[in-house]
Formats: sequence, C-alpha cells, structure tokens
Amino acid sequence: MDTHARPPQRLGRRLYEEMRARIADGTYGAGTALPSTRALAAERGLSRATVALVYEQLAADGFIHTRPGAASRVAMGAAAPKPAQRASQTAARRTHTGGVSALGARVAAMGLVDAEPSAPRDIHFAYGPLAGSDFPTQAWLRALRAVERQRSPRLEYEDPRGNLALRTALQAHLSQTRGLACAVEQIMIVHGSQQALDLCARMLLDPGDRVLIENPGYRMAHHTFEAYGAKLVCADVDAQGLNTGPLARMARVQLAYVTPTHQFPLGGFLPIARRRALLAWAAGQGAWVLEDDYDSEYRYSVRPEATLQSLDSCGCVIHVGTFSKTLSPQLRLGYMVLPPSLAEPFAAAKRLADRHVATGVQRALALLLENGSYARHLRRMRRAQQARQQALVAALGQHLGDQVEVQGAASGLHMVVWFRALSADLEPALVQAARERGVRVHPIGPFYHPARKPVPRPAGLVMGYAALEPQAMAAGVRRLALAVRDVQGLPKPRRQNPASF
Ligand SMILES: Cc1ncc(COP(=O)(O)O)c(C=O)c1O
Repeated sequence: MDTHARPPQRLGRRLYEEMRARIADGTYGAGTALPSTRALAAERGLSRATVALVYEQLAADGFIHTRPGAASRVAMGAAAPKPAQRASQTAARRTHTGGVSALGARVAAMGLVDAEPSAPRDIHFAYGPLAGSDFPTQAWLRALRAVERQRSPRLEYEDPRGNLALRTALQAHLSQTRGLACAVEQIMIVHGSQQALDLCARMLLDPGDRVLIENPGYRMAHHTFEAYGAKLVCADVDAQGLNTGPLARMARVQLAYVTPTHQFPLGGFLPIARRRALLAWAAGQGAWVLEDDYDSEYRYSVRPEATLQSLDSCGCVIHVGTFSKTLSPQLRLGYMVLPPSLAEPFAAAKRLADRHVATGVQRALALLLENGSYARHLRRMRRAQQARQQALVAALGQHLGDQVEVQGAASGLHMVVWFRALSADLEPALVQAARERGVRVHPIGPFYHPARKPVPRPAGLVMGYAALEPQAMAAGVRRLALAVRDVQGLPKPRRQNPASF
C-alpha cells in the first residue's frame, strides 16, 4: 500500500486508529460518506488541518477515497463483511460440511471421547493403563541424563524415520525377539501404533476403498480407516483369531488390518496355516496387510509363532509395534517395519505430519535397548503381568466359578470373561451394577462393528489387569460376583438373546 502521506501527528494518531478500526469492523461500510473535515474537527476539538491529515493518510493506506469538493467515502473492500453477512457466509458453509472438511465431519460424528476417570476408590479393570510403579524410572532417568550430557552443539531436525541409533538397536531387538528380517531403512519410529494406523490410512486408502477388519476388533483402528472414507468389510473371528475360510469370497480389498499374535479383544493366536492363507489371499488381490503386534511381549502359555512380516514373500506386510504395553502409553512411542517400497513414501508422510518423534526420548530408549536395561525390564514386566493374570483367573474361579468362561488369557494384558447365564443385552446392566459396587468394567459389545448383524452370545467383559495389584483384583472380582447377583435379580429385559456361543 502507498504510504507517502505524512503520518498524522500525535493528536491525529488516535483519530486515525479509531477510524481505521471502524472501517475494518464494518461500522463504516464500503461507500459510506465520511463527515467533512470541518464538521469532524469541530466535533473532536481538533484543528481542521489535523483531520485533513488523518483523511490523507487513510486515503494513502487505501481505506477511503477523497475527491476535491466531494465527501470522502470508504473504499470498496476496506471494510470487513458485516456481522449478518459473516453469519450467513458461515451458515452457508455449515450446511455444506459443518464448517469442516468431509474428513473433519466424519471424525466429529464419531463422538470419540476420553475414558471417564475412575473414582479413587473404584477398582478399575481397565484395558490400556500400566501401573506407574512398573515404569523403569531409574534406568530411564539415567538414560535421559546421559542424553543431555551428550547434547550436540547444533539442535537440528532429525530424519523423519527416527533416530538412527534407536532404529539400529530396534532392528537387533526385533530380529532376536520377533524373528523380523528387515533393513534399518525399513524401520520408522512413530508416536505410538495409533500414528502408524493413521499414516497407513492416509497413504494407502482412498475414500471408498475396502478395508478388511476383524469383528470384534480394535475400534480405534476401525475409526481411523472410516475417518479417511474407507468401507469396512467385517471378517468373523473364532477362538484362533481371524477366520480365513471366507476370505476367498472377499474381493477388491485394499488393506487388511489384523492382530494375529493376540487377536483383539478375543485373544486368539492365529495358527501358521491361517497366517499363510491370509498372506496368499492378500498377494492374490494386491492387498496390504497391517500386522498390529501390540502386546506380543506377553506370552504365558503359548509358543511364539512366525510373524506375518517374516512370512511375507511379496512385500505386502506392514508390521506395527508399540512401547505402550512395556514402558508407558504416555510416552507415545511405537514403530513400523515397512516393506521396502513404502519406506520412502512413509518417511515423507511422517515429515509432513510432525517431522519426527522427540529426539531426546528416542535416544534415551536407544540407550536402554543397547545397555540391556530394556531386556531386564521386559523380563520383570513379564513376571509381574503373569502374576496379575494368574491372580485374576484365580479370583474369577473362586468367586464366579462355572458362571463364567475365560477366553484369551494365555497372553497379553487382558482377557475376555463370558457370563454363561447372562444374555448379551444385560451387559449395560452388569456394568452399571458393578459400578454401584465400586468396580469399573468394560462390556465387549462396543468392540463389535455396529453395522454387522449381532452374533448370538452371552454377556461378556474385556477385563484388563496390567495396572492392578492382585489384592485389588481379588476384591474387585468379589464385588463383581455380587453385581452379577444384582443383575440376575432384575426383571428380564423384553428382547432376550439366548446365552449360547
Ligand atoms: C489392538 C491395539 N493396538 C494398538 C494399541 C496401542 O496403541 P498405541 O501404541 O497407540 O498406544 C492398543 C492399545 O490398547 C491396542 O489395543
């Protein structure tokens, strides 16, 4: 803008700012005639020369037009739209997409909310949290201090795939513990598995693409794919995990999301024949397979099975793991092992998303992996979690006996508990009755895809135990058994589901 006019001096400065603000907020709309310099000078007690200077400056800045012998007028486009006009523009956009993009509208409609915090005295069989006392605080602090001591003189952005020392240490760890064969270049450090799912959805799916999911399954994954416009194709799950028999009838699938090592939430462990069948089917249709290896560190009475990544001969498996189950979900640390063809495109996507995971945290974790602290911590965690798993199974046996059937307890950090005598539609009543007795439990119902015809089944709970001590678990199950009695005493709901499965 041309600003050749002399700036108004002190007395005129305030008038200039005020008029500019009124023009900008639309009080003086486009084309409005301004008072003459004489009239305004008299009104404000200023000299006419000062007001003339203010008008000159407003004209030079493009806010008004002045013509000798005619009233000065507000220039077109100088004023912001009037509030009514703004409201109608916003309303027009709202009727279109709710003011956000189509993706934004889909996400908003999902109604995702954080879990309600537990009351301090509640015994909460939550799936997700770990016990704070299990965190390796001393080793972590030592590693962070060592990282700080080695701070480099230049604080630069890092490789979006992650810190090289961490990826190298992880490569060795994954080869040893999961039999993965991959180059360091295929590994990318991400903000938890959730970011890996999000990146897969962004990079591999177009709206309308079909994604095969396990039903019941991990709803956070389903929501992510649906947010990007994917159509979910539900595949049934049995005690061994994904039922691969019907896959032959499922065509034009772009991506299959599976939890083969500990099916979430039922806990099945996919046998090798099904693993091979899944990979052959995926190769046949050019589908990607997302292998979510979220809690494979915890195996109590099952043998390790070859990962899909290590069986993959056509480069279609994306293997995803997390430190949320071994260190803390609050660290937001996970990793992807990508097929070679996807390594570069995903690095670019990660750069666009958030550049990279915090360097200090990555380097601290690299130190824990390198100096053996992480392996020691894992051994400790396995013992602690197995003790909790046994305590929960024992408490269920003692207080609920034959009334329940436990599924998927052989590995992981949760189990599914079926209540033989309660129908599925009593789940909300059971959760409420337990709550009234100071126990928080989670029904299995929401893990089934809502659009899929309900399968006949009894009431079930997904019971997490990783943040509870054995005594608390025993007390919690005792109260849960009372809650079951409360529900059995209730009048039966009108629509009954036979409790068979
Ligand atoms: C099936 C499944 N995958 C992944 C995760 C871990 O997610 P994140 O690494 O984002 O914490 C969970 C956590 O509960 C899960 O249940």
